[in-house]
Amino acid sequence: MCGIVGYIGKRDVAPLLLEGLARLEYRGYDSAGIVVNSPKAGALKMVKAKGRVRDLEARVPKRFAGTTGIAHTRWATHGAPSDLNSHPHLDPENKVAVVHNGIVDNAAELRAKLEADGVVFASETDTEVITHLIARSQADSLEEKVREALKVIEGTYGIAVMHADFTDRIVVARNGSPVILGIGEKEMLVASDVAALIAHTRQVVTLNDGEMATLKADDFRTYTTSGTTTNATPETVEWEAASYDMGGHDTYMHKEISEQPDAVDRVLRGRIDDRFNTVHLGGLNLDPREARGIRRVKILGCGTSYHAGLIGAGLIEGMARIPADAEPASEFRYRNPVVDPDTLYIAVSQSGETYDVLAAVQELKRKGARVLGVVNVVGSAIAREADGGVYVHAGPEVCVVSTKCFTNTVVAFALLAVHLGRIRDLSVTDGKRIIEGLRKLPAQIQEILDGEEDIKKLAAEFAEAKSMMFIGRVRGYPVALEASLKLKEISYIHAEAYPASELKHGPLALIEPSLPTVAIVPDDDLLEKNRAALEEIKARSGRILAVAHREQEKADHTIVVPKNEDELDPILMGIPLQLLAYHTALAMGRDIDKPRNLAKSVTVE
Ligand code: G6P
Repeated sequence: MCGIVGYIGKRDVAPLLLEGLARLEYRGYDSAGIVVNSPKAGALKMVKAKGRVRDLEARVPKRFAGTTGIAHTRWATHGAPSDLNSHPHLDPENKVAVVHNGIVDNAAELRAKLEADGVVFASETDTEVITHLIARSQADSLEEKVREALKVIEGTYGIAVMHADFTDRIVVARNGSPVILGIGEKEMLVASDVAALIAHTRQVVTLNDGEMATLKADDFRTYTTSGTTTNATPETVEWEAASYDMGGHDTYMHKEISEQPDAVDRVLRGRIDDRFNTVHLGGLNLDPREARGIRRVKILGCGTSYHAGLIGAGLIEGMARIPADAEPASEFRYRNPVVDPDTLYIAVSQSGETYDVLAAVQELKRKGARVLGVVNVVGSAIAREADGGVYVHAGPEVCVVSTKCFTNTVVAFALLAVHLGRIRDLSVTDGKRIIEGLRKLPAQIQEILDGEEDIKKLAAEFAEAKSMMFIGRVRGYPVALEASLKLKEISYIHAEAYPASELKHGPLALIEPSLPTVAIVPDDDLLEKNRAALEEIKARSGRILAVAHREQEKADHTIVVPKNEDELDPILMGIPLQLLAYHTALAMGRDIDKPRNLAKSVTVE
């Protein structure tokens, strides 16, 4: 979704900001814009374009020099994607420029008031309201002008503001949308995502909600919207700039799929305690007595993270014997749920920014619940809002659809399940068994990835399908859900996932030769039941691709994956289906890293 990048220093700002915008492209957007200070003070120069960052770049004139600027990628909310609706938004005198992520809830009301006062709007956006409010403020400083504007604004924002009369600074503010300062040597940056900063500095300050900052070339200052100094100190980002490059792969998705053995190794590292056959998770903030007092676990997430949560619930219930379930965070927050003090709530999010998840966390916290986060992005909003949690250490994920983060999140849940289990009823032997299984994962994932060529051949066949069915039972069902989501997201083939046990209660009516079924068939206590489902499909001339631990006679094709412990098998069974979705979409010529209509982080409602 929307992205912000800004710079103040000595360098030529336009190329630097355009490169920063390109780093934010992965988040999804439909238009972009840039504004820079004119060396002769008194006016700002702006270029905007509907479309891609390269379209914007093509419009930037040769003479566009400046050493301070802000830029934006927009994902339309108020007003269609267009040149005019793109950010930055300037006042009629070209003095004030604003870029904004988030939504101004009372924009219509404020717009009506401003129009009644004679203000003429250039766009249909909510953001332009902020520009006019700042431009009309009579306050002496830019900080005070911004503060006055924010006082009347309801909603969420991450903003960066420039003013032609205050060219020595950029003022930024945050409420619900990330704003990260990049602290350099005689230069300062700001962005909504570290991806846009990391090529220049790894020293960052993440603003809190209700915080503002003034950036000058050689100095920064943080303070609250009511003016109290907060003295934030920079932290070092661990992620490498190289993690945002394609590293020899044709797509980020392929790169991220292939990184999974290393990523899983990272989430395990330093957490296993062989002496007690358990797992240490430093950031949980949950002592053993509290862990024993948990009566239920409720996991909340969206999209792929919700699916990881479904597997996580199974792992926690199975190993720790605590009733556990997962629910889409987007649904949870609207159904006035009973919030129970003995329930442990777990928010799952790769980005740590997804608005529906964040809002659910805030509602839970307000009602006194204990909330943990299972998050990838260190210091993100959900990680900060939660009482404690587990970082999944997958490294940056750039492709809109999630692969390595999904896998690492599920492994993080397995670690949490062992931890809780060993405090409760999981025996030493079972603890040891699972830990040994976890240690085998990286090599087993590599073994699956080594079979990519065979999966590619199968994909060529599936690229012909109009629709596909995915089935799995108990542990296999969330694997089917995630595989079906992955396929539809990047190939646009219609796909449905069903519990195998429900086949005969409806979806069997769909089975015919043109509807292929992918079946998850692990070698566990439910093997015979799953085989019966294959029989039912075969009897209706359905084509079957099985993902199993040995060849399945009833299937037209079987992808054989290495066996691990029953509990951990879902982690491995999902991997070949990521490759299947990938190669199917590739064979269909899709834009895999940026599927249509989707954004990496959905930071609005
Ligand atoms: C968006 C993305 C999905 C992702 C979901 C949750 O919808 O397109 O790929 O699974 O958000 O994102 P999160 O960052 O909270 O895991």
